[in-house]
Amino acid sequence: MTYPLTAHLMQRGCDFLGSEHAILCGAMSWVSERHLVSAISEAGGFGVIACGAMTPELLDAEIAATAALTAKPFGVNLITMHPQLFELIEVCVRHKVGHVVLAGGIPPKGSVEAIKTSGAKVICFAPTLALGKKLLRSGADALVIEGMEAGGHIGPVSTSVLAQEILPVLADEHLVFVAGGIGRGEAIAGYLEMGACGVQLGTRFACASESIAHPAFKKAFFRASARDAVASVQVDPRLPVIPVRALKNKGSELFTAKQLEVARALDEDGIAMGEAQLQIEHYWAGALRRAVIDGDIEHGSLMAGQSVGMVTQEEPVAEIIAKLLAESEAALGRR
Ligand SMILES: Cc1cc2nc3c(=O)[nH]c(=O)nc-3n(C[C@H](O)[C@H](O)[C@H](O)COP(=O)(O)O)c2cc1C
Repeated sequence: MTYPLTAHLMQRGCDFLGSEHAILCGAMSWVSERHLVSAISEAGGFGVIACGAMTPELLDAEIAATAALTAKPFGVNLITMHPQLFELIEVCVRHKVGHVVLAGGIPPKGSVEAIKTSGAKVICFAPTLALGKKLLRSGADALVIEGMEAGGHIGPVSTSVLAQEILPVLADEHLVFVAGGIGRGEAIAGYLEMGACGVQLGTRFACASESIAHPAFKKAFFRASARDAVASVQVDPRLPVIPVRALKNKGSELFTAKQLEVARALDEDGIAMGEAQLQIEHYWAGALRRAVIDGDIEHGSLMAGQSVGMVTQEEPVAEIIAKLLAESEAALGRR
C-alpha cells in the first residue's frame, strides 16, 4: 500500500529519521523496550527506547537487544534530570544510536554537544515558541511539540494551540514533529498540512500486540474514554510538580499523599528542591512499573493520553500504522 499524499508531506521527516514513515512512537517508560521499539521500526515507523530511570548498564543491554531485533533505525529517549545523564549519553555514542530525544526540561550544558560527538541527531521538546527557538540555536536538530492531551508528563497548553503558535513560524525552516492527542490519521493529515514534518504518538501504540504491557494494563486502556485520562494536581505551591496525565484510579490519590510526604521532607528534613523533584520522579517510575509490568491497575500509574478512547483492541503495530496512514491519505485526498 502506498500513501503518496501523506508520504509527500512526511518526506522531510522521513529523510531526517531514516524511516519509511515519519511516525515516531514516543518513548514510554517500561513500555518502550526492545519488543515494541523494534516492532515500530520494522513496520516503517520510528521506535524510541525509553531510558527512564535505567542505569547505563541496563540501557547498554536494551540498545544491544533492540539492535539484534531490527536493522532499521531507532532512537533513545533520555530524561535530562537523570543523575547519570552523561554516562547514558556515552552509552548511546558507543552504540552509534542515530537519534537521541532529550526529555524533561532544558538540556544541561554540554549534553547536546556530547550526543553530537558520534554524529547523532538531537531531538528536543519545545514547550513554547521562544524555548523552541532557543533549543534550535543550542543545537537541537528537530523539535517535538507536545500538547497537554498527551499521556505521561505534560505541559499546560493544548496540541492545537501549540501547533498554531509554533508551526507557522518554525516549520518551514526546521523539523517539527507534533505529539499529544493524536489517535487517527485525519489529525495527522491536519498537522502535516500545517507544516509538521511528522508526528509522535504514545497512547495509540501502548497496547499494540507487541507491547509487553500487562494484559490488565491493556484492558484498562480498552475500557477507558477520553475523560478518564486526567492530569495530576499539584498540592503544595512550593513543590513544582510536573503534571502527569493518567487514567484515574487509587494510584492518583496515592500521588497526592506522596506529594504531601515530599513537601514535609522539604520543610522538616531540609532536602533540596532538586532531590524533592527526583523523589517525585522515582515515585512515578515505580508506580508506572507496577501498572505496566505487574498489572496493578489499582495502585499503579496508568499513564494515558486523552486519545485512549480511540484505543479499543490489541492490534499489531503494522496494522495501527497502516490504519493511520490510510486515514491520513483519505483525508488529504478529500481536500
Ligand atoms: C505510559 C506512558 C509513558 C510515557 N513515558 C514517557 C517517557 O518516559 N519519556 C517521555 O519523553 N515521554 C513519555 N511519554 C510520552 C510519550 O512519549 C508521547 O510523547 C505521548 O504519549 C504522546 O501523546 P499521546 O499519548 O497523546 O499519543 C509517556 C506516555 C505514556 C502514555
